[in-house]
Amino acid sequence: MKVPFFRVELPESAIDAVADQLRSGWLTTGEKTHRFEQQFAHRIGSAHALALNSCTAALHLALEAIGVQRGDLVIVPTMTFAATAEVVRYFDATPVFVDMDDAFNISPAKLEETIQAILEKKPIAGLEPPYGPIKAIIPMHYGGFACDMAEIQRIAATHELPIIEDAAHTFPAAYRPDESAPWKHCGTFGEIGCFSFYANKCITTGEGGMAVMNDEKLREKMHVLSLHGMDKDAYKRFTSAGSWYYEIIAAGFKYNMTDLSAVLGLDELTRADEYRAKRAHVAARYDERLGQLDAIQLPPRDDSTRQHSWHLYSIRLNLDRLRIDRAQFIEALKDREIFCSMHWKPLHLMPYYVGTYGYGEGLFPVAEREWLRQVSLPIFPAMTDAEVEAVCVDIEEIVS
Ligand SMILES: Cc1ncc(COP(=O)(O)O)c(C=O)c1O
Repeated sequence: MKVPFFRVELPESAIDAVADQLRSGWLTTGEKTHRFEQQFAHRIGSAHALALNSCTAALHLALEAIGVQRGDLVIVPTMTFAATAEVVRYFDATPVFVDMDDAFNISPAKLEETIQAILEKKPIAGLEPPYGPIKAIIPMHYGGFACDMAEIQRIAATHELPIIEDAAHTFPAAYRPDESAPWKHCGTFGEIGCFSFYANKCITTGEGGMAVMNDEKLREKMHVLSLHGMDKDAYKRFTSAGSWYYEIIAAGFKYNMTDLSAVLGLDELTRADEYRAKRAHVAARYDERLGQLDAIQLPPRDDSTRQHSWHLYSIRLNLDRLRIDRAQFIEALKDREIFCSMHWKPLHLMPYYVGTYGYGEGLFPVAEREWLRQVSLPIFPAMTDAEVEAVCVDIEEIVS
């Protein structure tokens, strides 16, 4: 049976909502975008939200809003997607990579060690003094499994550093430090949380993103920057709610979300819990079946402190139990029409970061060891039990 890595299946209500919006004649940012922001903020437990055209844009504007400048340092995991670090480069600032913990998230112990070494002007993995000031920490919740936020918040508070969360994988995912604490959504632990609504994310607007924050001034700054540095958006300029007059108060960007995307987002928002339950169902079936196999290490799960979004179902191969490597495993599945993916080759091994800073092999041993045995299996809300079964049967055959 052919199983794609991801399959988009939008409900008719979402298609109707987009068609209605097209008929309305309002195609750009407007009332629907504002409604999406309000509903998202309410749902996530944040005072404010700003809808944008990607999570990358949200991360970029977040760093702008907190004042990152040329030569500053921003701490990011090496085990993350390109966007988390590339936004640091937009400022000609330096991404300081940190190794991962055993859940593919940034290691709090390594984070603390790195900050301490920078403050003491000692060499750190890949970089040497003199250093610019550290401006922010960007933890990323890998696959929808929350970072150890209690520890990261403690470290950030000790050094008075803002946290910008890369919450691209996490809506809705939640964390609590222990069973007596209340659940809190990922994306609401730092100054600004950044979400992605790319096609295969937990909810989608095709392309899109959202930044959430409690500080109204941060929202206002990011809002102005998101639309050419104008002090009013198109909606207010072209309706009776606002005036025709605007001023450019910053060198801005073109990052606004359109109402066409927002109506999709509004529909998706009503289905977020249903989607999460369906992904969790797939994950539970995988756990049950693949947990029997010595050759497979299951993704981490800790139901007492994490509500996993299951954006990714990320297994690791126990290569000492196999006569094939990770590439051969993925190819063998592909031959059987099961399509997998990989998340990710660590950024410090990528030619751009090797060439620009001299990062490279041997600096972050955990990420370097673990990425070689990582495989992301198909997981999506529309996945059928038969499809899950097909993946499991093929994996069983390959590893035996
Ligand atoms: C961890 C992470 N951060 C950021 C992004 C960027 O999201 P977007 O495509 O919405 O810009 C992605 C996209 O896959 C991601 O995986």
